[in-house]
Amino acid sequence: MMKMNDYIEIIDKKLDEYMPVKYPENIFKSMKYTVTLPGKRLRPVMCLETCRMFGGNFEDAIPTACAIEMLHAQTLIHDDLPCMDNDDFRRGKPTNHKVFGEAIATLAGDALLTFAPQIILKHSPNMGAEKLLKIMEEYFHAAGAYGVIAGQVVDIESEKSSNLSTYAALNKPSELLDYIHTHKTADLFKLALRTGAIIANATEEQLEEITEFGQCLGVAFQVSDDILDETSTFEEMGKTLGKDKAAGKLTYTSLYGLEEAKCKVACMLKKSYDIMNKYNIDSLVFDEIITGIKKRVGN
Ligand code: IPE
Ligand code: IPE
Ligand code: MG
Ligand code: MG
Ligand code: MG
Repeated sequence: MMKMNDYIEIIDKKLDEYMPVKYPENIFKSMKYTVTLPGKRLRPVMCLETCRMFGGNFEDAIPTACAIEMLHAQTLIHDDLPCMDNDDFRRGKPTNHKVFGEAIATLAGDALLTFAPQIILKHSPNMGAEKLLKIMEEYFHAAGAYGVIAGQVVDIESEKSSNLSTYAALNKPSELLDYIHTHKTADLFKLALRTGAIIANATEEQLEEITEFGQCLGVAFQVSDDILDETSTFEEMGKTLGKDKAAGKLTYTSLYGLEEAKCKVACMLKKSYDIMNKYNIDSLVFDEIITGIKKRVGN
C-alpha cells in the first residue's frame, strides 16, 4: 500500500522532469521556483490516492496530479502579490515576486495556468479523448471564474480596507465566508479528487461521494489555515503569519473566534471521516491527511 511519502517522492521527481528550463529562462525558472519548493503536496497526493482507491492505476494520474500542483502554485504566486495578500515568504523562502519581480511573477502565474493542462495532454497519451475532455472541463472549471478565482475575488472584497466591502455588508458574512472557503480552497481539493476518480473510471455516484468528501476536507483545511495564521509560527508554516487580522480579512477566526474555529475543524473532519466510512473508503493516506490537519490545530 502506498504511503503519503511514497507519493510525494514520485510527484517531486515528476514535477522536476516536466519543467525543463527553456528560453526565455526567467519565466521557466520563476514557474519552477514556486512549484518545486517543498509544499505539503496535499492535492497531487489526493489525486493519486483517489485514483488508486477507485481501482485505477495511480501511475495514470501522475501528469494530472502534477498539473494540479502547478495550478496550486499559480494560485499561491498570485495570492502573494502586493496587489493581493502582499506576502514576502512562501514555503519557507522569499515569495516569487521577491525573487523575480512582480512582472515575471504575474507572468509565471499566467504561464502555469496554461502550462499545467498542457502537461496533462502531453503526458497522458493513452487516456482517450473522452476522459481527457472530462479532465479538461474539471480543470478549467476549478481554475477559473467559477472556481478559485471566484473565491479569491470575494476574499479580497471582504477585506475591511476594500472599498468594495459594502458588497460584503450586503451579504450575510457567514454565507460569504462559506463561499470564500468553498471556492478558494475546496474547489482545488475537489478537482484533485474528482480527476483521480475520473481516471479510475468511477461512477457518477462515486464522483458525488468524493466531491462531498472534498468539500468537507477543503473547508476543514481552510479553517485550520485561518487558525494557524493566528496561532502558528513562521518555522512551522514557512510564511508570514498574523496577516489576515492585519488586513481585516473575513476568516473563520475573525467571525467566530479561535475556539469556535477549532470546533468547526473538528466537526468538518468528523464529517469527512463519516463520509469515508459510509462509502467504505479505505485509505491510510486520507487517514494521514485528516490526522495531520487535526494535529496542526491541536485538536
Ligand atoms: C496554502 O495551501 C493555501 C491554502 C489553501 C491555505 P497549502 O497549505 O496546501 O500550501 P503548500 O502547498 O503546503 O505550500
Ligand atoms: C489562499 O488562501 C487560497 C489560495 C491561494 C487560492 P490564503 O491567502 O489564506 O492562503 P495563505 O495563508 O496565503 O497560504
Ligand atoms: Mg489570500
Ligand atoms: Mg494569502
Ligand atoms: Mg491563510
